[in-house]
Amino acid sequence: MGLIHEPDYGTKPSAATDMVSVVIDGQERRVPAGTSIMRAAAEMGTQIPKLCATDSLDAFGSCRLCLVEIEGRPGTPASCTTPVAAGMVVRTQTPQLAKLRRGVMELYISDHPLDCLTCGANGDCELQDMAGAVGLRDVRYGYEGVNHCDADKDLSNPYFQFDPSKCIVCSRCVRACEEVQGTFALTIGGRGFGSHVSPGMDESFFSSECVSCGACVQACPTATLIEKSVVELGQPEHSVVTTCAYCGVGCAFKAEMRGETVVRMVPWKDGLANHGHSCVKGRFAWGYATHRDRITKPMLRDKISDPWREVSWDEAIAHVASEFRRIQASYGKGAIGGITSSRCTNEETFLVQKLIRAGFGNNNVDTCARVCHSPTGYGLSQTFGTSAGTQDFDSVEQADVILLIGANPTDGHPVFASRMKKRLREGAKLIVIDPRRIDLVRTPHVTASVHLPIRPSTNVAVLTALAHVIVTEDLVNHRFVGERCEPDAFALWAEFVALDRNSPEALAETIGVPAEDIRAVARIYAGGGNAAIYYGLGITEHSQGSTAVMALANLAMATGNVGRPGVGVNPLRGQNNVQGSCDMGSFPHELSGYRHVSTPEVRHLFESAWGTPIDPEPGLRIPNMLDAAIDGTFKGIYIQGEDIAQSDPDIRHITAGLSAMECVVVQDLFLNETAQFAHVFLPGSTFLEKNGTFTNAERRIQRVRKVMAPKNGYEDWQITQMLANALGYPMDYAHPSEIMDEIARLTPTFTGVNYEKLEREGSVQWPCNENAPHGTPIMHEAGFVRGQGRFFITEYVPTDEKVGPRFPLLLTTGRILSQYNVGAQTRRTDNTAWHQEDLLEIHPHDAEQRGIAEGHWVKLASRAGETSLRAKVTDRVAPGVVYTTFHHPMTMANVVTTDYSDWATNCPEYKVTAVQVSPSNGPTDAQRDYAALGRETRRIAGVAAE
Ligand code: SF4
Ligand code: SF4
Ligand code: SF4
Ligand code: FES
Repeated sequence: MGLIHEPDYGTKPSAATDMVSVVIDGQERRVPAGTSIMRAAAEMGTQIPKLCATDSLDAFGSCRLCLVEIEGRPGTPASCTTPVAAGMVVRTQTPQLAKLRRGVMELYISDHPLDCLTCGANGDCELQDMAGAVGLRDVRYGYEGVNHCDADKDLSNPYFQFDPSKCIVCSRCVRACEEVQGTFALTIGGRGFGSHVSPGMDESFFSSECVSCGACVQACPTATLIEKSVVELGQPEHSVVTTCAYCGVGCAFKAEMRGETVVRMVPWKDGLANHGHSCVKGRFAWGYATHRDRITKPMLRDKISDPWREVSWDEAIAHVASEFRRIQASYGKGAIGGITSSRCTNEETFLVQKLIRAGFGNNNVDTCARVCHSPTGYGLSQTFGTSAGTQDFDSVEQADVILLIGANPTDGHPVFASRMKKRLREGAKLIVIDPRRIDLVRTPHVTASVHLPIRPSTNVAVLTALAHVIVTEDLVNHRFVGERCEPDAFALWAEFVALDRNSPEALAETIGVPAEDIRAVARIYAGGGNAAIYYGLGITEHSQGSTAVMALANLAMATGNVGRPGVGVNPLRGQNNVQGSCDMGSFPHELSGYRHVSTPEVRHLFESAWGTPIDPEPGLRIPNMLDAAIDGTFKGIYIQGEDIAQSDPDIRHITAGLSAMECVVVQDLFLNETAQFAHVFLPGSTFLEKNGTFTNAERRIQRVRKVMAPKNGYEDWQITQMLANALGYPMDYAHPSEIMDEIARLTPTFTGVNYEKLEREGSVQWPCNENAPHGTPIMHEAGFVRGQGRFFITEYVPTDEKVGPRFPLLLTTGRILSQYNVGAQTRRTDNTAWHQEDLLEIHPHDAEQRGIAEGHWVKLASRAGETSLRAKVTDRVAPGVVYTTFHHPMTMANVVTTDYSDWATNCPEYKVTAVQVSPSNGPTDAQRDYAALGRETRRIAGVAAE
């Protein structure tokens, strides 16, 4: 059990290395130069009263409560804004200081409601604490004068409230929004007595620019900004540190609890991925864990048209085991397989692939990374030798140039976006390559140096054109290339990219941006000091996804931007544990640590540990399993925590495959879309109900800790273990730490990882082994993992998905901040206040041509299928491009996506579909049927309708 109140040192630590001595209240201490007197005192255990200072923000010096006396200096300076100096002698407690502080507090309290006993912050209010600390016993001015005590509350935000009557105008909220979040949604309006906190132009929080990150709430020292959950439930009484289960940033949180009830999630200051910050999802959107739609009892049915029947765990597990054995006896060992989840822990994922390889006896295991970052794994392992990003997040603080391509971090990876924005405000240059004008192109105090609004599907063309400029204008870092890379591969690549057909001028029309802009980007990237690449699914989800990843690696190697802080090639990974699920051997050709199943020594290692032979042949990928099902050779599947009927491309193909199987087992929190085709439903557990680890986009392994008992009775790894035992393959783990010990024994990049170290060090980044016992923040520092870096030829091959007269527009897809992927969790929280439905963004010119106005229903048709949704007319997308999110199943966005996929990994080409858009009268028949089927499935299961 952890603390609720963490120490607050008042100001940030100094980064200086030279030390100075200071005497505070008679005690001598050496601290780094630049440390504030307030912090130096706090480190000695002396808390100087304060209100406007907190150690997550720059010192401000407005409240005048932290005054001190310094020998030889006149007056009483503020200790938060005064740095220590060598030989300084400071007194923090004198009769004069006490009088001054009481006077300040008296003024605050004279304009503050006296309802401490019934205030939501009672027990967690710095104003209350300071009144006690300065010994305030009386307010000489009375409470009758003009005051703010009747100011109206703003309850517009679903998660927190704003009660200006309690505001002391300390500006902590304003500064948090600026310094930590970088949204600049708040200001102090008015002057003097009329000074007040204002979201936007005196708007409500909900209608302002606020993105609901909660940084202001966390910074507020009073009950002015407070979580509604705290007001409702009371103050938490213990806390447990755990990791966010949404995105690949991997924010660490303190789950602050009363008993087994989460009162609030507070980003953990010591979390090395987030340093005490969070976004709206991690901080507020945990309510799905106790949503009424949760299924908590196992269910069976013989046919998918039958009603569900609740059964005991014993019956459910025995049924699955007998069905899988029957199917294997009738159709062969390879007729079953499974899908691991990037939402589940490393230990759970490892166990599912072990069940499949050792219990099923085949390699038919795949994961959702197939549909997102499999090209990252392939591309980076070919060029650098490791299937992971090169940097830690802190590295961005040393970047001089940031090249952002195919990613929208303010929506997809918000906490990292805040770090990035901070660095950009400090002066780093930003290049955005994206078909859509994402927020970062222009956001308060950040403007991209160049935005290339490229045509969807032309990533490889633009990256090769950038390489052309770097080679032909001799911007190559020859020393780096000479020392670190394969010379022959470099020579071939340089010759290839230098060809005229790869010049910006030759490719500009294809790419859809002026050649001069491409040249400008190449010069900024190659010539501006530390240049870091960050990319997302806008790179990978293409027929040339792997080629584009290799093209990024080529650029970084050619310019020497790998192997030190501030540089690198960094995939912004989508799901909380997509890195981990790939690391754990979820792909059909690889065991944990990306080792091919065909390698005898690797197989032998696992065979001797697991006591069973391992098939040397790679198994089936997700699309191949579905193809085989339609062909009649694949009959049973175990799907843990994935919703392929909603998240994978070409839904008709998925549903046909699932419908053709004899035993579909879905393990999930909710009756998701895939469960409509299931014969067995095994209820899963949330991240709040389990122990384990997640690995974030920086390869950082962090603990997930159980804060409440699983509502379904078991953690997900226990369910897999029961299934293995029923199938006759014994497993006997008592705790996920034992699974991690096995992972460490079998995986060279994990040999130094264990729960004791994670407890001690908080987190570690793999590789963590005898060469790097504390992990590896930056990869490829002394040399590439594969030895020498390898350049690859990146010939641009246009996708087969072509626009034409019937389908003249290109559809691309993405996410928005408040929702998460297929929305199974976020749609079951108050985050729906921001996004009730997916919309189709269309340029005003294209809309006008089609007679479409804002909010109209439109038909979105492709060669694969059609769906309907409402239009949003905006110039964020270029003419010829339309864009939508895919958070709502009713949207059926994946009905229109095609089955084209990455040549190397089968990652679907979600980002490019030729479409036509025309006015429509509302949802298609298929959408209505789909919604009705969903409602019916839920009715049969006895769950409340959404
Ligand atoms: S919640 Fe975040 S974005 Fe909104 S005002 Fe507070 S700090 Fe700014
Ligand atoms: S809302 Fe809170 S943090 Fe903001 S100025 Fe008022 S008291 Fe300070
Ligand atoms: S940025 Fe990602 S990991 Fe962090 S709180 Fe938001 S969703 Fe969770
Ligand atoms: S805490 Fe130093 S002036 Fe407010």
